[in-house]
Amino acid sequence: MQAYLLDFANFMMRWLHVIAAIAWIGESIYFVMLDNGLKPPKEESCRKKGVFGEMWAVHGGGFYHNQKYATSPEKLPDDLHWSFWKSYATWLSGFALFVMLYMANPSFYLVDPNSNWQWAAEMSGWQANVLALLFLVAGWVVYNELCKRISPDMQRDGLLSVAVAVMMVVVAYLSTQLFAGRAAFLLTGAVMATAMSANVFFWIIPGQRRMVAAMKAGEAPNPLDGKRGKQRSVHNTYFTLPVVLLMISNHYSFAYSHEHAWVIMSLFIFAGALIRQFFVLMHSGSIKPAYPAAGVALIALAFWVGAPAGSSGQNRDSADAGPSIDEIHEIVETRCTACHAKEPSQEGFNSPPAGIAYDSADQVLSQREQIQQVVASGYMPLGNMTEMTDEEREAIAAWSE
Ligand code: HEC
Repeated sequence: MQAYLLDFANFMMRWLHVIAAIAWIGESIYFVMLDNGLKPPKEESCRKKGVFGEMWAVHGGGFYHNQKYATSPEKLPDDLHWSFWKSYATWLSGFALFVMLYMANPSFYLVDPNSNWQWAAEMSGWQANVLALLFLVAGWVVYNELCKRISPDMQRDGLLSVAVAVMMVVVAYLSTQLFAGRAAFLLTGAVMATAMSANVFFWIIPGQRRMVAAMKAGEAPNPLDGKRGKQRSVHNTYFTLPVVLLMISNHYSFAYSHEHAWVIMSLFIFAGALIRQFFVLMHSGSIKPAYPAAGVALIALAFWVGAPAGSSGQNRDSADAGPSIDEIHEIVETRCTACHAKEPSQEGFNSPPAGIAYDSADQVLSQREQIQQVVASGYMPLGNMTEMTDEEREAIAAWSE
């Protein structure tokens, strides 16, 4: 019952998370489009009011006329629309999901028993949980310090972007050494997503509040507040596509269980940012296909890096037929079916994980390639809970039709 409850809650929380994220990212993409697509106002009266850009749009059977003020309008309306709850709801629901899935089962999902770092491979569950939380907090602290030290007055934003890019490669590398592959991808995405929400919470919204308060008091707002809001919001723009990719990576073990997973992850992050750049420029009327082309080239590179090395059973004699299906079935029964059965015996599982059950030899036979892939990468058995031996892994690798 407990496993069922947790699964159900997880399902519903995931729903909420995706909806909140769609609403937030959608709004963010919309405002980038609006900002970059503004044209100088045609009417003299608009210019006199202080409008510096406008956009006409038709949507859902109506016509819209957006105007952006260069500084502040003469009078601020009381019912100003603010955007922040979508961002907070996305972060909160995402964090809740992380707690329900990963932190509730850290020795399955967070600890990587094959880590190159011995101490990381031997972490206990609660140590892994603490480390994951520290990882998220440290990600924000380092990013925020980089912004504050490198470009405090927004004069060196170019250099800052390079520093943030380098930081993300380091985050990708560390995450794959410290945590199981699936969690590593998720946590790297979560470092970016946390920076995005924290940018809204600690800088963008407080800055806007100060600006509004100044205007209401009849004073000129501090221009740094506006510029900093823009700086952080630009970072958020380039984080969006990589974050979405990392968040949906959880079924693609060929990527996150690869020994160079951090390289694959970094390539995906840069590809996402480059593709986003194309759209950002497109909204201001400049079509630069080189950006998505470079993004696709990085994805192709990731494909090449991630490709499995050689086919299975290659280093066996051709005369040797490899292990029989009975041998394989026996290995699978001892190492996999505690979880992967119609009725799992492993505590915490109330249905076969990922819908995969190996109750019969036929089921095992029909999933040969998939089994070989997850065993070779070390992703399965999850957390090597069932203590699969190297000989058994070799037997699975040598198993051919
Ligand atoms: C301790 C429980 C457990 C054991 C033991 C286990 N698995 Fe899994 N397996 C899981 C869970 C949980 C998932 C779902 C993870 C996910 O959503 O990616 C999974 C997913 C999979 C997948 C799908 C991967 C994907 O990319 O979605 C395959 C294939 C798989 N397991 C094969 C195996 C094989 C083969 C073994 C034995 C060598 C094994 N598992 C042992 C828990 C286990």
